[in-house]
Amino acid sequence: MLANEDLLALMSYDDKWQLAYHQMPVSGWMNDPNGSIQVDGTYHLYYQYQPNSANGGATHWGHKTSTDLVHFCDEPIFLSPDQAFDRDGVYSGSAIQVGDDIHYFYTGNVKEAGFHDYTFSGRQQNVIHVVSPDGYQINQREVVIPHKDFPDEFTDHIRDPKLFQHEDYFYMILGGRLRTNKGAILLYRSTNLSDWTYRGYFLSGDDDQGYMWECPDTFTVDGQDVLMFSPQGVIGDRYHFQNTHNAGYLLGQFDWEKEQFDVQSPFYELDQGFDFYAPQSFVDEQGRRIMWAWFGLPDISPEYSNPTVAYGWQHAMTLPRQLFYEEGQLKQRVVSDYQKLRAHHQQILACKDSQGKLAGQVYELEIKGENIRDLSLDLRQDTKISYHADSQEFVLAHGPSGCGRRKRCLKLKQLDHLHIYSDWSSLEIFINDGQQVMSTRVYPDKGQDTIHLQTDSPCDIDLWDLKSSK
Ligand code: FRU
Repeated sequence: MLANEDLLALMSYDDKWQLAYHQMPVSGWMNDPNGSIQVDGTYHLYYQYQPNSANGGATHWGHKTSTDLVHFCDEPIFLSPDQAFDRDGVYSGSAIQVGDDIHYFYTGNVKEAGFHDYTFSGRQQNVIHVVSPDGYQINQREVVIPHKDFPDEFTDHIRDPKLFQHEDYFYMILGGRLRTNKGAILLYRSTNLSDWTYRGYFLSGDDDQGYMWECPDTFTVDGQDVLMFSPQGVIGDRYHFQNTHNAGYLLGQFDWEKEQFDVQSPFYELDQGFDFYAPQSFVDEQGRRIMWAWFGLPDISPEYSNPTVAYGWQHAMTLPRQLFYEEGQLKQRVVSDYQKLRAHHQQILACKDSQGKLAGQVYELEIKGENIRDLSLDLRQDTKISYHADSQEFVLAHGPSGCGRRKRCLKLKQLDHLHIYSDWSSLEIFINDGQQVMSTRVYPDKGQDTIHLQTDSPCDIDLWDLKSSK
């Protein structure tokens, strides 16, 4: 008899919405990227994974490897919830290489009797340290911060350790929910990766910044210090924080004396589409700061039903995006490695209406203009992208192939550049060289290949069919 995960894998194999060049689970459920690292040329992507159910459950760390960041191999599961300290989930965490070893830190989730997700208590979240010589084998697994040692002013929601090094110390930040119902990031310090001392808040939030901050990450890119996290409970408006949960960043400065993050900007969203959460970054051997994110969301709104569940799988990773600090903000661009998937190329210069000239389903589309005032772009089955300079509104709108999701809007002063990656069931839209991004899953029927651009300003269009990376 086939194991359940093999059955789900067979079902997903038949799915027309299987992704051609994005990472997805072989079977079952995928959420956050974890522990991403490059070691001796090999990229390792670990991720929250439940192979036996497309609707989630106790998570494992799935594992994929690649030598070019484009073609990946599925490896055996790296960590399973099989210990007393993580029996209900090997939750999110990160990796750091020290000497020859790779050290991983994750949250071991334990749900106690009477546990309820929406109460503050009834769960343990232990910080676990794992040592591996190569990213595949595990030599050591120890609890380094047991749940009972967390500070009292926090609820039981503390998780997602991210590691970094500064001078003689290792630092760990964790996301948390205070009893006052505000989000905060805890900072711990260590000299040996096993003994950790609590140093206080790296940052704590205000009332309007959400009740819980998940998946913190902090780094310097192009000379700028950044703090990234995924707040829950931020109230949105027409142009901001439209999803149930959101992900974004603050610009500021590390204050090493106070061991805090000194905030110098508003909280900016990283992606204003329907599906983007829990981003995590790492530096690769070329020195690039690369970010993956979950191409999905927790607690999705009831009007959305994801049709891939019927095919035994749900969710994916976004494309890996390189981060840049330019013109006072973070910009995101898909790592250039993906250009190797480019196949047939079509170019139309100074185009105002592409009716009948372009078509595609799995592609990269680049549109360049100068101060475009009005633009409308119909894609796939019934997805429409539009921009009007008078209202300064950029809109992504789905029809029925959005499976219940309708519209996301953002404010945009000027439009010069659009770069779109389309896969069988996804779109990632990069605006003005990655200044703003909208990512969404979408479920068109096979053969729905419309690409129809109409604009008042002549645009140069490049369209590349993309090969599958499987
Ligand atoms: C974010 C998150 C993390 C947690 C993990 C569990 O999506 O809720 O905070 O560690 O997912 O799968």
